[in-house]
Amino acid sequence: MFVKQISLVDFRNYVNETVTFEDKVNFVVGSNAQGKTNLLEAVYLCSVGKSARTPRDKELIFHDKQRAKIKLTVSKSYGSDTVEIILDKECPKRVAVNGLPISRIGELMGVVSTVFFSPDEMRIVKEAPSDRRRFMDIALCQMSRTYFYLLSRYNKILMQRNKLLKGGFVEGDALDVWDIQLADVGSKIIKTRRGFISSIGGITGECHSYLTDGEETLSLEYESIDGETTDEIKKNFCSLLAAERERDKLRGYTHSGPHKDDIAFKIGDEDIRSFGSQGQQRTASLALKLAEVEIVGRRGEYPVLLLDDVLSELDLKRQKRLMNKIRDYQTIITCTHIDKTILSDGDYNVINVKNGSIV
Ligand SMILES: Nc1ncnc2c1ncn2[C@@H]1O[C@H](COP(=O)(O)OP(=O)(O)O)[C@@H](O)[C@H]1O
Ligand SMILES: [Mg+2]
Repeated sequence: MFVKQISLVDFRNYVNETVTFEDKVNFVVGSNAQGKTNLLEAVYLCSVGKSARTPRDKELIFHDKQRAKIKLTVSKSYGSDTVEIILDKECPKRVAVNGLPISRIGELMGVVSTVFFSPDEMRIVKEAPSDRRRFMDIALCQMSRTYFYLLSRYNKILMQRNKLLKGGFVEGDALDVWDIQLADVGSKIIKTRRGFISSIGGITGECHSYLTDGEETLSLEYESIDGETTDEIKKNFCSLLAAERERDKLRGYTHSGPHKDDIAFKIGDEDIRSFGSQGQQRTASLALKLAEVEIVGRRGEYPVLLLDDVLSELDLKRQKRLMNKIRDYQTIITCTHIDKTILSDGDYNVINVKNGSIV
């Protein structure tokens, strides 16, 4: 799929602007603080329903204005879809797909699929496990609405269980009902994530090997509760919950479950989460994102790759390899200038941004 057009009204520093993209590499070029990232943020918002930069929608509305409107058109092999979002200072955001308002954000998943990569995302390998879980969740939610609803349900059950634990005195078997539900939904999440990491792991290795010219071999390992089938995982999850119950009560917190999962990144036997160089960690996170594009693309439509300011973070060799790799699908890439030496052919689109306007 590719994003054809986006119109912004009072979104960040855009007062009223329409931007047209092409189905190839699109450079969004401009000096600092002109609105390049804001433009990517708007596309991303139409994809997953929230910003990658802030959980507070109100920040996205132009200062002193009441509401912002975003309208995006995406082209697919069977036709096109539109997503419209209205953000209002006073009320919750409203989202419509092809003119029909949606009541649950889950219905937006997969309409516009994107893979977002920025210098912040480059830390995915070295930062907290929660960042790596977020990666899995955003990828999987876009691929499957069932996963989106499973995850929302799991988080609700977990919140209820923790609330009960925090409340102090917990009646004899009051936790039992929560444990069963948690293990039931949690085991399905773990099973899905395990399958995902197993398939994306191989492709990440291939992308990594391409970026490093075969110098290093990267592999991924999913770290969670053991078990091949959902039933096995569920059984193991239940035993863990029982074993940890006293500690959970003491701390007012659930110590086991998919909310504690992690992904190990290994080069040989070395775990680069803690022992890798910054360069290794960055290249691994880029390989992971490129693999995400591939895995989604091979299942159906290629997603749109959004690259925010990442070229300047990579050495020339990696920049060239990256540019060569992304020729097969739409990419929107922000930068302060275009370095022509990294481009293998001249077929790209340039969008110049200045102070919230396209020039
Ligand atoms: N809600 C808002 N209303 C008006 N301007 C905003 C808002 N949020 C951010 N900005 C402006 O957007 C600019 C930053 O845009 P950004 O896209 O992050 O820049 P860059 O081109 O460096 O990526 C800054 O000038 C900032 O003041
Ligand atoms: Mg920026």
